[in-house]
Amino acid sequence: MSEKKPAAASASRVTVPRLLRMKQSGERIAMVTAYDATFARMIDEGGADILLVGDSLGMVVQGLDTTLPVTVDEVVYHCRAVSRGARRAMIVGDMPFLSAQITPEEALRNAGRFLAEGGAHAVKLEGGKSVAPVIRRLVEAGVPVMGHVGLLPQSVHAMGGFRVQGKTEDAAARILDDALAVAEAGAFAVVLEGVPSDLAARVTAELPVPTIGIGAGPDCDGQVLVCYDLLGLTPDLKPKFVKRYAEQYAEGRDAVARYCDEVRSGAFPSVEHGFGNVKREESAEPVADAPARAGYGPQA
Ligand code: KIV
Repeated sequence: MSEKKPAAASASRVTVPRLLRMKQSGERIAMVTAYDATFARMIDEGGADILLVGDSLGMVVQGLDTTLPVTVDEVVYHCRAVSRGARRAMIVGDMPFLSAQITPEEALRNAGRFLAEGGAHAVKLEGGKSVAPVIRRLVEAGVPVMGHVGLLPQSVHAMGGFRVQGKTEDAAARILDDALAVAEAGAFAVVLEGVPSDLAARVTAELPVPTIGIGAGPDCDGQVLVCYDLLGLTPDLKPKFVKRYAEQYAEGRDAVARYCDEVRSGAFPSVEHGFGNVKREESAEPVADAPARAGYGPQA
């Protein structure tokens, strides 16, 4: 593989029809997770087509061992922050554990919050055939849905850990059926997580909508990585499927160490970081020569 062309990032917002055209023309889709406005801006400017406000935030932001305790309120909160930072990328809010499985009506109410309160453009939902009726309900109501099959982090206990799925013929056939059911129900794209590359290639060839792989080999229509993994912010974790494009944990730690040294030695702050000395007026009026900068206090 493969003759897929690199995408030329255009400035207008990425939409569902654009993603479908990308599949048809063989342009690959780049998706990255984001959880706050600053990272969203950086990843958006870096050219990602989709920002996923993943429930992985439970692990990388909240320090949990699984994604299960993450709530709808928390994902909506992070969607709001991400939507303030991104201009071009589509924003997808991840539906947390059991937020879509109780009833389709409850799923719709929860999904609606990601769009109406969080500023997201779509939601992602883990599961195959069993969630197809929910996907249908959301899509009918105007909520674009991204599916997610293969390794399902919300089913970590049922799967016996974060393990590659689809290794036997039966398991592979079930994953293909799940992906087809999800697409048939109206999903505009499907994440394929933790499956053998040949299975991902087969699903990608059979699905009319884009597949976005993570630990699914090179033949999907797009790829997704957790931004903390991509940027090297997870020092204790380096799964086989992750490629680190930076070592920002080490860089950040070393920068903080230099700052601490300079505070302790008195090298920081130096004259250029201060506002000089002013001659005090007799009046009790505040001195108005230091305008506030976006909530961060005075600037020069
Ligand atoms: O929550 C998440 O970040 C995800 C991706 C890894 C696909 O679901």
